[in-house]
Amino acid sequence: MKQDLIEQAKAVMRKNDCGTYTVPTHGLYPFQWNWDSALVALGFACYDEDRAWTEIETLLAHQWEDGMVPHIVFHKHDDGYFPGPDVWRTGRAVPTTGITQPAVAGFALRRILDRSSNPERFRERARAAVRKIHAWHDWFYRTRDPQQTGLVALIHPWEAGRDNSIDWDDAFTRVPTDGVEPFKRRDTSHANPAHRPTDEQYKRYIYLVQLFRSLNWDTAKLHDASPFRVVDPGFNAILIRACSDVADLADWLGEGQIARQSRDFAAKGIAAMETLWSDKLGQYLCFDRVSNTLVQGASVGGIMAAFCAIPAARAAALAQRVRALAEQVEYLLPSHDPREPGFDSKRYWRGPVWLIVNYMVADGLRAAGETAVADQIETDSLRLIDKGGFAEYYDPMTGEPCGGGSFTWTAAMVIEMLSARRVAA
Ligand code: GLC
Repeated sequence: MKQDLIEQAKAVMRKNDCGTYTVPTHGLYPFQWNWDSALVALGFACYDEDRAWTEIETLLAHQWEDGMVPHIVFHKHDDGYFPGPDVWRTGRAVPTTGITQPAVAGFALRRILDRSSNPERFRERARAAVRKIHAWHDWFYRTRDPQQTGLVALIHPWEAGRDNSIDWDDAFTRVPTDGVEPFKRRDTSHANPAHRPTDEQYKRYIYLVQLFRSLNWDTAKLHDASPFRVVDPGFNAILIRACSDVADLADWLGEGQIARQSRDFAAKGIAAMETLWSDKLGQYLCFDRVSNTLVQGASVGGIMAAFCAIPAARAAALAQRVRALAEQVEYLLPSHDPREPGFDSKRYWRGPVWLIVNYMVADGLRAAGETAVADQIETDSLRLIDKGGFAEYYDPMTGEPCGGGSFTWTAAMVIEMLSARRVAA
């Protein structure tokens, strides 16, 4: 049974494998996505280490000169996706978008090496990758934390990877739609429109792209110019975790300066995470840098904070949050608390379960000693696969598979969870 599931997951990975990178799923997402690739590499590493490295190296090959690693690399022309290169117009030989995504690559690299039976074989590849990933982290703290608070801000919801989270709703009311060029969405022809972000949200997504484009994608200018600047605890936790992992890898590689700087980023970040804590909700919250307020909403972004080394009492409180959510849903982990207004069990990041999020939250809680909750999250994840196959995301109430099918990172997470041999299938 377990082996069967791994074979099915590998078949999904094969189907979406374009040789040196994978697409998240054909049709809906026909290019390389940043955090998808890093997480997919974990799946590859369980049976083909070289292919795992190639996935990450291909992504890093498209790093910008300033250090940013873009959120999409448009390797091949494909009309089926909007907004494509003609909208972004970032002027690169191989087109990319001009925003980024959660910096999970440093964590992925460390995990792949930790698990390798012969890490020495990858030493020089690791050195090259670590230098690039560190340059990306450094870019984050330079351009997205100009006041040196220790936490970085997103300037577009797509950067969070949680595209239409309820977390962005208030901040989005300040993003205008004047001057947005007419466009035709393509996502709604691949997936059920009732499960996708709304047209009103899309206009605002595009407004921001046009604004950044008008500033010639000078990433040093975009933070201050953006009417959307939100500090997301989940996003920061991923970056902090990656900095700690890069620090350890840098020690192994004898890259002292990278190690010191990375530890410094992580320490400052963890201390600053405290400013996002809410006693009332028992979890971390987003902070809106434009209105200077905490966003009062119980989204999974605040629980993803468990992915970095937060204090033990905070991890215990987050485990408690997850237990409380388990009473509301049939399958952990909903991307928003069902008791709050705006929750929608099928609409993308406003309620559904995502396996990559489950994986990271379970990993963090396990490291904090919250084994039972971590096990429950992983068991629920596999129950979803049994019921609905390798979908993009799932309804936490019914387990219905939603969004795109044959999804690469879902398959990778299944391989990863099963290979760790913690959960029985
Ligand atoms: C959607 C998700 C994002 C993901 C991308 C490709 O935009 O919100 O997190 O990276 O699809 O799978």
